[in-house]
Amino acid sequence: MTAARKRVGVLISGRGSNLQSLLDAAADPAYPAEIALVVSNKADAYGLERARQAGVATAVVDHKAYAGRDAFDAAIDAALRAAGCELICLAGFMRIFTPDFVNRWPNRILNIHPSLLPAFTGLHVQHRAIEAGATIAGCTVHIVTPDLDAGPILAQAAVPVLADDTEDSLSARILEQEHRLYPAALAWLAAGRVRVAGNRASVDGAMASGVLLSPLPEGL
Ligand code: GRF
Repeated sequence: MTAARKRVGVLISGRGSNLQSLLDAAADPAYPAEIALVVSNKADAYGLERARQAGVATAVVDHKAYAGRDAFDAAIDAALRAAGCELICLAGFMRIFTPDFVNRWPNRILNIHPSLLPAFTGLHVQHRAIEAGATIAGCTVHIVTPDLDAGPILAQAAVPVLADDTEDSLSARILEQEHRLYPAALAWLAAGRVRVAGNRASVDGAMASGVLLSPLPEGL
C-alpha cells in the first residue's frame, strides 16, 4: 500500500514562484506531499492566484488585522490545523514567527532562503553577496527554528556570481535553483527520510550538506 501523502500548508507573501514549483511537483500523484492550503498575509499576493489555478484552497490572514504576533500566529496555526496540514513550507513569507509557534511544529517547518547559509541571513542577500565580492552564491532549504535563518540545513544549491552580475541577474540564477531544490527537499521530509541531530540534518543517513544539487541528480 502506498503511504498517505503528507498534507502541506504553504505560506507566502508575494509572487509565489517557489509555491508554483511545489504545486507542480505535487501534481504528480507519486510525489509524497500534497499542497492542502496556501496562506498569505497579503490579499493581493499573486501566489494566491497560482493556488486557485491549481485548485488548492487559500486563506488570507492579514497581520495588520491582529493585535500582535501571538494573535497572528494563532490565526495561522488554526488555519493550518483546520486544513489538516502536517508540514509547513515558507515560500517568500515575509513575517517572523514567535518561538511558541515554531515550537508547536517541531522539525515540521521548511524555509527557502536565497543564500548559502550560514552566510547572508536576513534581507537583500543577493545584493549583499555581490557587494561582499562572493564568487559563489546559491540557495538553502532549512528546517525552521526560533532563530532566524539558522535551523538545520537540509539542502543547498550553488551558482556562480559573474563579474557583470546585478542583483536581478544573480537573483534570477539563484531562483532557477530554488525551484529545483525546494520540491526535492520537501519530498525528503514528507517521505520521512530526514533525521535531525542538534543543528545537523541528514537525508537517509548522508550529511545533507554534502548534497550539491546543482545539477540535480537524476530521479530526485
Ligand atoms: C525567494 O527568493 C525565496 O528564497 C525568498 O523569497 C523569495 C520568494 O520568491 N525567501 P517567490 O515568491 O517564491 O517567487
